[in-house]
Amino acid sequence: MRLVIFIGIISVFFAAIGNISNSFASDIAAVDRGRDIVRQHCTRCHVVPDMNPYGGIGSTPSFAAMKWLEDWARRFEIFYILPPHPSLVRIEGVSEERSANLPAFNKEIILKLEDIDDILEFVKTLKTPK
Ligand code: HEC
Repeated sequence: MRLVIFIGIISVFFAAIGNISNSFASDIAAVDRGRDIVRQHCTRCHVVPDMNPYGGIGSTPSFAAMKWLEDWARRFEIFYILPPHPSLVRIEGVSEERSANLPAFNKEIILKLEDIDDILEFVKTLKTPK
């Protein structure tokens, strides 16, 4: 009887460790995916630490500097509806398709909603500049 309880406790313990390390691994994967998306799509305009220190376009806030703002995370959750992004970012199943009547001035950035979460996970890892 004691042995059964002991085995029970041990297996709960290892299941818990398994869960923790699984979610840790998936956080790391999300950060990596977010980093790739940002490198591919956002550095065209934004300066992102360790990616393009001298890049970006002048009028565009750097990702690190944005973390000074108290509501930076919220802004990253909804950036695709904040100007100027609606004219170039489309979220599959969320944003409307660009009308064929509208000229394409720039290459459209097409993302999934999960990508927005991954971008946020990546931006969380950026340090606020001193
Ligand atoms: C074509 C250039 C361009 C691209 C590409 C671009 N942005 Fe931006 N972004 C801007 C500009 C310009 C602003 C400043 C808007 C303002 O000050 O009103 C901005 C602002 C932001 C803000 C702050 C929003 C606010 O109003 O506070 C976030 C968050 C953001 N961008 C995220 C992203 C992410 C994530 C990507 C990549 C998926 C991206 N941007 C790609 C030009 C761009």
